[in-house]
Amino acid sequence: MTNDPLADFRTVRLDDEAAEVVILDQTRLPEETVYVRLRTAEDMYEAIYRLRVRGAPAIGVTAAYGMYVCCRRAGAEADGFDGLLRTFRRTGEYLVSSRPTAVNLKAAVERMERCVLRCGDLPRQELLERMRREAEAIRDEDAAACRRIGEYGLSLLRPGMGLLTHCNAGHLAASEYGTALAPIYAGLREGYGFRVYADETRPLLQGARLTACELQRAGVDVTLICDNMASLVMSRGRVQAVLVGCDRVAANGDAANKVGTSGLAVLARHYGIPFYVLGPLSTIDMTCPSGERIVIEERAPEEVTEMWYARRMAPRGVKVYNPAFDVTPHELITAIVTERGIARPPYDACFAEWFGR
Ligand code: MRU
Repeated sequence: MTNDPLADFRTVRLDDEAAEVVILDQTRLPEETVYVRLRTAEDMYEAIYRLRVRGAPAIGVTAAYGMYVCCRRAGAEADGFDGLLRTFRRTGEYLVSSRPTAVNLKAAVERMERCVLRCGDLPRQELLERMRREAEAIRDEDAAACRRIGEYGLSLLRPGMGLLTHCNAGHLAASEYGTALAPIYAGLREGYGFRVYADETRPLLQGARLTACELQRAGVDVTLICDNMASLVMSRGRVQAVLVGCDRVAANGDAANKVGTSGLAVLARHYGIPFYVLGPLSTIDMTCPSGERIVIEERAPEEVTEMWYARRMAPRGVKVYNPAFDVTPHELITAIVTERGIARPPYDACFAEWFGR
């Protein structure tokens, strides 16, 4: 039994019999629903790097399944525990290098490594079975976290509100309900009648291609806007709360998310609209003191100049700057919603208590 409102639209799953990770290719949405089977570390790297599977929790789950599949498929060089561990570490390092900002990817690989180290004495089959269960646990815990985030998030909202979201932090980015979109799905069940504005999210259009697609499919009242329309929509009183996801939250509450998020936070402050960041505890990186230390992924210029255009739209040779994320300073964040509860400023004190530091 699943609680997934879009269960027939499965972001990532393990086909254990075939030893393959199966992902919904998000670069083909919304026009085509195509599932891709990943067998090798190269397949997984390509799928994560190209954003066929994306969103911080979803790439963590993909990496966890991926590490299991790669170890199961490892050849003779992985004979013996030391050989397996070498293969694991080489593959893990490679996958982690595919996208540097989302902490969930690294955290999932590290958790799988701890599992391998715990099971070093077990026969190979048993060790692999423990890895499979650990990967499924990462997925199930993410789904449970999303449900709790949905409940806590909904407690901050009232029926009939206009909500604005950026990028895609929903079903397609995580397990089941997602993070920023989880309260929207919870509200749908409870008849809250939210009106949601989805930013298109330049340059890769996750808002237009993915958020608009999944919310529409689920029956949510969703309206697509260009990124540069947010100020107008807010100024006209159509937005009562902004809900965004996160890829890494520093110990002081600074939060990295899709580029454009921090600009929305500035606008929300100007118009007196609450700005909520929603994400699982696994996205909080207590080893990172502040947003300045978060590595921001820079991506290919073609994503800006031609990727989603029928014809190239910028002059050849023009200089392009294409950072994939930005950091919203904690001062602009009204609350951070996790499965553990709702963190309010000062975030450093709240996180220190939660993580026992
Ligand atoms: O580059 P993407 O599409 O992976 O960026 C995704 C986001 O910024 C999401 O908001 C974030 O990963 C949270 S997903 C629950």
